[in-house]
Amino acid sequence: MSTGQIERVGVVGCGLMGSGIAEVVARSGADVMVCEASEDALQSGRDRIERSIGRAVTSGKIDPLDAKLTLSRFEFTPHLEDLADRQLVIEAVVEDEEVKTAVLRQLDQVVDDPTAIFATNTSSIPIMKLAMTTRRPEQVIGLHFFNPVPVLPLVEIITSLLTSTETSDRASSFASDQLGKTVITSPDRAGFVVNALLIPYLLSAVRMLESGFASAEHIDTAMVEGCAHPMGPLHLADLIGLDTTQAVANSLYEEFKEPLYSPPPLLSRMVEGGLLGRKSGQGFYTYSH
Ligand code: 3HC
Repeated sequence: MSTGQIERVGVVGCGLMGSGIAEVVARSGADVMVCEASEDALQSGRDRIERSIGRAVTSGKIDPLDAKLTLSRFEFTPHLEDLADRQLVIEAVVEDEEVKTAVLRQLDQVVDDPTAIFATNTSSIPIMKLAMTTRRPEQVIGLHFFNPVPVLPLVEIITSLLTSTETSDRASSFASDQLGKTVITSPDRAGFVVNALLIPYLLSAVRMLESGFASAEHIDTAMVEGCAHPMGPLHLADLIGLDTTQAVANSLYEEFKEPLYSPPPLLSRMVEGGLLGRKSGQGFYTYSH
């Protein structure tokens, strides 16, 4: 099977991650069909992509002509059926197993190409659980990107016990050769490599704040100034989204039953209260949009 350039890509979900993924795919030269559930969500996804490409022009990463070409490679649709001719579809909807399985089940019905790859950007849900909702589990794979996607080089590739070698070779060559990303492989365990390490660290910071051990500012300053992290753990949780942080923690806890993975009450209360971090304007810090 060919591991050549993939030219027609679908991205389902155009939130923080989906818009970043769609951007890097279009910048690689592929046509991208972006699918979102509503016209409003499509419009805000489109705005986010345009802002990000504008930012890349301002900082001299791409020239204005390239930016125009990149934008011309996008199409937007609220209908999953419009992804029928895609060679690769990347699912980047909310980190919720039911929502993700519903999308994959429907994609399985509508995508015509019998060799098409279904990739999921899940942060933590085992690939096997998602793959088994399709009739082609050998073509389902995890392609896990990192936020902000245009900036962070890593992609984790996760194969399930049923993913074929052809699928993993094509997906790997897509991420490394076509997108220029750094690829690592991970076994199909909740959290994969990065989130299995990162989430307990973020949860520890929330527990430290919750117990009154240290203030948010001191916790974040400690890790930025003391360990040269680009941002502290509470700022990072706000960037990731507290709902996503909680969802990943739940997946890890469900899989391993380790107390360190269980979301602390403060995190749960903030999510219940709609304090989701940067995207909602309020998390551990306040953001103006
Ligand atoms: N989209 C595109 N580009 C962006 C961006 C965005 N959302 N945010 C920042 N950038 C670019 C800027 O344009 C700038 O580019 P330049 O150097 O060419 O001018 C560069 O990134 C640096 O940005 P800033 O100077 O504005 O800000 P900082 O230097 O503070 O960097 C940051 C911001 C890139 C977000 C940096 O703080 C960082 O890397 N933080 C850590 C992020 C991280 O750990 N992400 C992983 C989260 S885990 C995850 O995603 C997995 C999931 O499953 C949970």
